Amino acid sequence: MTRSTQWWQDAIFYQVYPRSFSDSNGDGVGDLAGITERLGYLELLGVDALWLSPVTVSPMADHGYDVADPRDIDPLFGTVGDLDALISEAHSRDIRVTMDLVPNHTSNQHPWFRAALAAAPGSPERARYIFRDGRGPDGAEPPNNWPSVFGGPAWHRVTEADGTPGQWYLHLFAPEQPDLNWENDEVFADLAKTLRFWLDRGVDGFRIDVAHGMAKPAGLPDMDITHNELLINDDDDLRFNNPGVHAIHRRIRSVMDEYPGRVTVGEVWVRDNERFAEYVRPDELHLGFNFRLAEAHWDASDIQEAVDNSLLAVESVGGVATWTLSNHDVEREVTRYGTEAGASREVGLRRARAMILVELALPGTVFLYNGSELGLPNVDLPDDALQDPVWERSGHTERGRDGCRVPIPWEGSAPPYGFSTTPDTWLPMPDDWADLTAEAELEDLDSTLTLYREAIELRKTRPEFAGAAIEWYGAPPECLAFRRVGGRLSCVLNASAEPVALPGGEVLLSSAPLIDGKLPADAAAWLA
Ligand code: GLC
Repeated sequence: MTRSTQWWQDAIFYQVYPRSFSDSNGDGVGDLAGITERLGYLELLGVDALWLSPVTVSPMADHGYDVADPRDIDPLFGTVGDLDALISEAHSRDIRVTMDLVPNHTSNQHPWFRAALAAAPGSPERARYIFRDGRGPDGAEPPNNWPSVFGGPAWHRVTEADGTPGQWYLHLFAPEQPDLNWENDEVFADLAKTLRFWLDRGVDGFRIDVAHGMAKPAGLPDMDITHNELLINDDDDLRFNNPGVHAIHRRIRSVMDEYPGRVTVGEVWVRDNERFAEYVRPDELHLGFNFRLAEAHWDASDIQEAVDNSLLAVESVGGVATWTLSNHDVEREVTRYGTEAGASREVGLRRARAMILVELALPGTVFLYNGSELGLPNVDLPDDALQDPVWERSGHTERGRDGCRVPIPWEGSAPPYGFSTTPDTWLPMPDDWADLTAEAELEDLDSTLTLYREAIELRKTRPEFAGAAIEWYGAPPECLAFRRVGGRLSCVLNASAEPVALPGGEVLLSSAPLIDGKLPADAAAWLA
């Protein structure tokens, strides 16, 4: 199957976590004007598009993934005018702007949910969400046994208008994030309005949150509870990946198709390749996040398998592969690779640098998470600084995702490193990041930022990166080597403990200096 060429097919997206990117008004939280001020940096980095995590109106129970008004900007981040300014400034630099869209649930402060609480069981207001009577003689048991992804039950019991304990509503995430009832046509009609609202303002597309959610199984049966991780990767999990979801994606696509050149990328935690492929059929999502590379351990065969699987996952439908090493929900790669047996943070950084060369050598769309280009590690935050709802919901057993969401260090030698004018940033910044600021790394030829810039530049300009397929070729034990079939770029990764000889060819770039012409341990190289 062939599809026409689109800008996003080999684009590099850069995920901005707006709270943590750049604070223009000194309140300790990043904002839209802050992002606009930093566009020069993003242009220098060479990215093609931004993905903004939610900036719409939200009480911030889940930092924006609880949306109270999907068609307005939260004052914490600025105004719709600030978004307009960001879009036009970005476009003038040839950077596209995509937004997060959260269709699975709303905030409990959304006018619809407030109306649902005020209305009676069985009312049209309640029919926009998933309200059920409880089980047991007095309805005191939740309607089924589903756990919330953030810990605790996925149901919350409401108090009816007359003060009596009443129905329960479903929330797969926090109680402040009630799930919408996608069998109700009003729900899609409203989403279509939201899509058009932002598309008409020039937004280039959407990252769709929990794109494998939305549809629920008939009768909401009990599930086998084996595990309950945020990274939902169990295909038998009844809460997600129900077949009805595809009709919803087709309806979203029909609106997107009115706006040629715009793109959707879905957050699809689905393991089985055939079922994953269903999401990126020609009339559904343009792209689906494939998280296998982010899940792979520092192990050559694990990484090779992740690459093969990601390519295979889209092959049957002629889709485009996507690659990501991290995002705002997972531990940063420097820390992930640095905490595997025998590793250290320094080794983690070497491996993260190697993996960006692997990722950028692959055919398809790449998603970078802000701060990865600086080689930022996760931060061990003190208990009292933690903000992720996961911390409270899990009864302080899961620390949650704050460690990868610490603000970006821009310049200077002490917190807040130019991120803000107040040292009182929404998450505290570590004291030892002076060498990891954008300013310090821009000037340092050996920095991770320089490596990213060089790699992105090569990927964009060299003919070796042509072609949609790769082939593996023989590599020493614990190493991997592949070649782009079209342009014949070679990428070699050394995950062994010893330096290895490189094949013939011009070395375009390596993540660490070669030793007597050999590729050292924990490093990767590109050859023409
Ligand atoms: C997605 C988001 C995550 C959020 C959740 C609920 O997994 O990436 O940050 O908490 O959805 O909206």
